Amino acid sequence: NWNMPNFINDQIELIRRQVGDRKVLLALSGGVDSSVVAALLLKAIGNNLVCVHVNHGLMRKGESEAVVEVFKHQMKANLIYVDATDRFLNKLAGVADPEQKRKIIGGEFIRVFEEEARKLDGIDFLGQGTIYPDIVESGTKTAKMVKSHHNVGGLPDDLKFELVEPLRQLFKDEVRACGLELGLPYEMVYRQPFPGPGLGVRCLGAITRDRLEAVREADAILREEFQLAGLDKKVWQYFTVVPDFKSVGVRDNARSFEWPVIIRAVNTVDAMTATIEPVDWPILMKITDRILKEVPHVNRVCYDMSPKPNATIEWE
Ligand code: XMP
Repeated sequence: NWNMPNFINDQIELIRRQVGDRKVLLALSGGVDSSVVAALLLKAIGNNLVCVHVNHGLMRKGESEAVVEVFKHQMKANLIYVDATDRFLNKLAGVADPEQKRKIIGGEFIRVFEEEARKLDGIDFLGQGTIYPDIVESGTKTAKMVKSHHNVGGLPDDLKFELVEPLRQLFKDEVRACGLELGLPYEMVYRQPFPGPGLGVRCLGAITRDRLEAVREADAILREEFQLAGLDKKVWQYFTVVPDFKSVGVRDNARSFEWPVIIRAVNTVDAMTATIEPVDWPILMKITDRILKEVPHVNRVCYDMSPKPNATIEWE
């Protein structure tokens, strides 16, 4: 009969049969799917799984650290951590067009991963967190985006691996259940969706280090306060955005000219349409207060009231 422990045992058996004592390479972003597939492969083949975590410098606060902590230190996985922050930010410098930014981030991601793969010897397989909704052509933007960034299928021809995709029969809620069963932390398995290009799509226009820092710190405050208020379990996706214009304010009795932070919190079933979460004013006021006090170069906080359509969930 079908239950999660049986599914896991069957997959471990199948993975071992497919891979034998050869090695599997996996791009571990820290998202739900790649984390669960990493935990499953680790259980099946131990250190013959080689995970590569590319920190593109556009992760949320503490996120890459959590990947290293959970997989390398707690689960003792063979994990290569690559801090490619400077490389990504240098490539992105001065690039304001959203599509161009996405292309640079996606392309650079493949190149960094490819370089790591070339340093390794004797890898025959590529693990992927493909899940059932990725396979049935849903035609949604989300599915396509997830593929264009997370799918490492853009590798050159001389680096073609056989794929190992043990989650391909599972829906998202089953992937989460599988992750919990494998001992992954709740926060990792129930994390909210996060776009592949990360904070790059929330730091509008040409990315600068000061605004990237602002969007990351403000996002950390928002997540902390949502958790305190119990909204993290209720709201589907919530984040901050920093646009590329300044406005006049006052700081220490003097005129200031600084960035605004926009808060967005939405609910949706399929990401095709979305409604905003009517967050209580006292919670929004507390978050505003903290952002204004704790985040440098910010003098205004706004709440995005727009549903999708006419807006989208992200700003870019
Ligand atoms: P929009 O902004 O189009 O977003 O309403 C719908 C959902 O898709 C997520 N999203 C992405 N996910 N790679 C991803 O993995 C991406 O490039 C990407 N762009 C948007 C977005 O966060 C929202 O949940």
